[in-house]
Amino acid sequence: MDIQDIIRKACNGLKPYVAGKSIEEIKREYNLKEVIKLASNENSLGASKKALKALKNNFDKVFFYPDSNSFNLKKYLSKRYRVSPENIFTAAGGDEIIELIAKLFFNSEDEIVISKYSFIRYSMAVQLMGSKAVVVPMDGKFRYDLQALAKACNRNTKAVFITNPNNPTGTYNTKKEFSQFLKDLPLNRFGVKPIVILDEAYFEYGSIEKDYPDGTNYLKDNLTLIVFRTFSKIYGLAGLRVAYGFANQKIVEYIERTRPPFNVNLLAQAAACAAITDKAQVIRSQKLIVKEKKYLYKEFKKIGVEYIKSAANFILFKTFPIFGKDMFIELLKEGVIVRAMDEYDLPDWIRVTIGLHKENKLFIAKLKKVLKS
Ligand SMILES: Cc1ncc(COP(=O)(O)O)c(C=O)c1O
Repeated sequence: MDIQDIIRKACNGLKPYVAGKSIEEIKREYNLKEVIKLASNENSLGASKKALKALKNNFDKVFFYPDSNSFNLKKYLSKRYRVSPENIFTAAGGDEIIELIAKLFFNSEDEIVISKYSFIRYSMAVQLMGSKAVVVPMDGKFRYDLQALAKACNRNTKAVFITNPNNPTGTYNTKKEFSQFLKDLPLNRFGVKPIVILDEAYFEYGSIEKDYPDGTNYLKDNLTLIVFRTFSKIYGLAGLRVAYGFANQKIVEYIERTRPPFNVNLLAQAAACAAITDKAQVIRSQKLIVKEKKYLYKEFKKIGVEYIKSAANFILFKTFPIFGKDMFIELLKEGVIVRAMDEYDLPDWIRVTIGLHKENKLFIAKLKKVLKS
């Protein structure tokens, strides 16, 4: 007997997710003292002081199970975003949200529409459920082609994944485009529009752009819209695993039935409640990204590196004629962790997270060195 014979057929072809390398790992591997990580779109400013204080105040409570319903966190989110708590759900990261939605809705006969060059966890979730992924090309500027996505929907389409701004391209779609897309979606065999899973992991960065749509504004008129965001990015709590979503009350009720009972841990809930009130931290982080993005664009131009303008806290740049994977290794040897893009089918591109000025400066210096060698 082979274990492969007894696992679910859908799980047979699954490949492990390739996570960004950790600083400790690279220090060990390359015998380096100083390493910076610009690989996973975390916030280099760190977590908010308020969140850190909340963590300290809750350490001694960890022998209790967490609140299964994240009551306080939903209350804070409700106040912050003016959405009723019945329309809010929480989970252990956006990754868990993607999987919960897949488990709840995706059957093997369903088609799920995904854009090319979008977050890899969507196709992994589709595969997990044994559904069919329909992959739609982007437009010529590495942006979601929302018209083409709507056209790809048919009777069998159960859901469409949209990321705004998108990871890894950093591009975004405007209010006008998104409203039109929602209108264009055809009804499926259930007589409803497909579920639109709007991933706003980089919402706080995207909202710097004037014509960026806030997904929560479309919930009232779109029964099958699910919007989700995370505390992993601008809020600097990636290590705690906490995210939240907004949807129709009925959908939320079903998500509540699907999720593990204590999915958001006690410390994560406490820190997230504090972080959401820390508007100053968000503004500080947005300002850093606006300033440092300009710096990086200027440096890329000076050294003749092609890049895609980003509405998030990372930039995708072209490594051609060098393979992204090779440049990634060369940068690792120099103590800079970035992200090669092979699993996104972008073998001559690299994604770099925008860090503190000193980190960005070091990254540029090392990039120049690698390009010269
Ligand atoms: C577009 C997008 N969605 C979701 C996630 C998942 O984030 P988390 O599980 O840390 O909340 C990420 C993380 O990189 C992302 O880039």
